[in-house]
This record gives sequence, structure tokens and C-alpha cells, in this order.
Amino acid sequence: MNVLVIGGAGYIGSHVARYFADRGLKIDVLDNLSTGTKDNLFPDYSFFEEDILDYKAVAAIMRRGYDAVVHLAAAKAAGESMLKPEKYAVQNLTGTINILNAACEAGIKKFVFSSSAAIYGEPKYLPIDEAHPKEPANFYGFTKLEIERMLEWYDRLKGLKFAALRYFNAAGYDPEGRVRGLEKNPANLVPVIMEVAAGLRPHLDVFGTDYPTPDGSGVRDYIHVTDLADAHYRALLQLDAHAESFAVNLGSERGLSVLEILEAARRITGRPIPAHITGRRPGDPATLVASSAAARKLLGWQAKFSDMETIIATSWRAYAQHHSHSIH
Ligand code: WQD
Repeated sequence: MNVLVIGGAGYIGSHVARYFADRGLKIDVLDNLSTGTKDNLFPDYSFFEEDILDYKAVAAIMRRGYDAVVHLAAAKAAGESMLKPEKYAVQNLTGTINILNAACEAGIKKFVFSSSAAIYGEPKYLPIDEAHPKEPANFYGFTKLEIERMLEWYDRLKGLKFAALRYFNAAGYDPEGRVRGLEKNPANLVPVIMEVAAGLRPHLDVFGTDYPTPDGSGVRDYIHVTDLADAHYRALLQLDAHAESFAVNLGSERGLSVLEILEAARRITGRPIPAHITGRRPGDPATLVASSAAARKLLGWQAKFSDMETIIATSWRAYAQHHSHSIH
């Protein structure tokens, strides 16, 4: 199968690209390197530096002949999306519409889309399954939900078969240590902790310890990127075998608190990792945990690398090798 991985130089995309190439899929990567990096690319596939806002460029690449598109190119900071909705409207909505139209024009019928738990908004019950009400609490989540709805129409009108993969909190790095690029200016918990451990930030701000959770800090469902990559692979095989669209949650189904992760990171890295308890971050729910029963059933998918040890150890390996000069 020939697959175009859009956003394949980014954090999740690079793991997906590596995982696909490891399994013998013929892939190409398209990325504008706005948040992705060349450090995340490998010599066993081609790379096209193009922007998804450039319709002609995207359409020309699609005409090279692909069986499927995996689309992971998006802006993804929920907080920023509330301050700069226009950026998210253009990059996520316009960019995806370009990709969809170019894919349809080129006759591509299989589409794997990076969706998000952010489409659900404040949890009404836990764990969150796919039937949970979809009321995004931020503009980022709104863009992902709107794209899912677009995909349903393109399925009906154009015969495009899609998999919408709703990630919970992606974390960790390639267990074999091959993906080397680090995220620029991360805002997510695990990379922030890694930057503190590596001496790049003075401390972690813990956003609230007064939540109704066992230790008072926020609880999330962290899912290793290699488990996400495996789900993309299985989603593609599923679309190939059955030509039926679907949407599934991808989570470990287990909640970890900020303080648990902080303690584990101190132990695993051997670094002190100073932390200050600050106020809650606006818009943060207390607890988010997935039900991934649908992905298990439909794809035979099961998280294998998403225990806390593996998530932190693989992340630390990536950060430690990158920043060895600043770690004493
Ligand atoms: C995790 C926990 C914070 C940073 C976001 C997006 C979501 C999805 C995943 C893409 C929370 C706490 C964090 C810090 C902290 N993105 N925290 N100090 O908010 O669950 O989800 O990323 O699809 O749409 O909203 O992830 O990593 O920011 O936070 O205490 O410096 O860590 O309060 O409890 P979040 P996160």
C-alpha cells in the first residue's frame, strides 16, 4: 500500500511514519516543518516540504498515486486556540479541506484522521466512550469535531472511507530511540517535565492540587505514541479490508495524576525536577479517562507501551540524548 503521511515530521506523525515504514508500507511524508523537524525524518522514504494551505502543491503530490492518506498536520494547543481562533480555523479547517479535496481529485478513498478527545469537552461521565456528548470546550476541539462531520459528508458524497482516531494524551518516544526531534515550546505535561529534568526550564508549574481526585492534581489518560502509531496501522488495514468509516477513542483506559507522573519522573530520571503548585489552568477538567473498548473490538488494538514507566523512560531517553550538554 502507498501511503502519504501528512504531518509526518511532527511528534506523532514521525512515530506513525517510522512504524509504517518498519512494517513494509511504502510511504512518503509531506510536512511544512512549522512544528515538525527534519530530525524526525528517515532516509527510507521521500519527504516533500509543502504547506497544506497550498492547494496546488498538495494536489500535485497526491497525483503521484497513493492508496491512502494519513493526516496529522494541525495546530494542537487548546489554550492558544481560544486566543487565536483564526489560526486554528485556517490551519486545521482550511488545511484539511484542501487535503480532502486534493485526495478526492486524485481518487484516493482511504483517509486516517488525527482527531482528539477534545471533541467531547467537559466529561459528563467516565470513562468517555464514543457515544459521549460532543461539546468541545475549546476552539481546537471544535475544529476537530467539524472535520469529523466533514468526513461523514465526504463519505456519503464522495465515497471517501475514513478512520477518525480520537487521541487522549499522547506521550512517550520511540522505544528504540530512533525519533530524535523534540517538540518546540511544549505546553503538555510530560515534555514540560522533561525540559525541567534536562535543565531547560527552572521548574514545573502544577496547575492545581484542589481537584476532586485522589491526590488533588489533574488526572489524564496518557497513551504512548507507539501505541497510537500501531492504531493508525491497524486502522489503515481495517479500511482496506472493509471500506467502512469509523471513529474510535485511543487511550490506555487508566488515569494518572500530575503528581504521580512528577514523582515517577524524579525517580526514573534521577533529576530533582523542582515544582511549584499554582492555580488551576482555566478550562482543565479534573479527570479525563477513555474507554477504548471500540478500538479493541474493531481493530484488535491494545496499548502495550502506555504504562507510566515506559512513557517516562522513553521520553527521557529522547531528551537526555538531545540535551546531554546541559545535564550534569
Ligand atoms: C495534562 C495535565 C494539566 C502542564 C491537551 C489538550 C488536548 C489534547 C492533549 C490534542 C493537566 C497538567 C500540564 C503543566 C500541569 N491535545 N499540567 N503543568 O490539557 O489534558 O490536553 O493535550 O489533541 O486537546 O487540551 O494536556 O499535557 O496540557 O495537561 O500541571 O505545565 O497536566 O493541568 O491536568 P491536556 P496537558
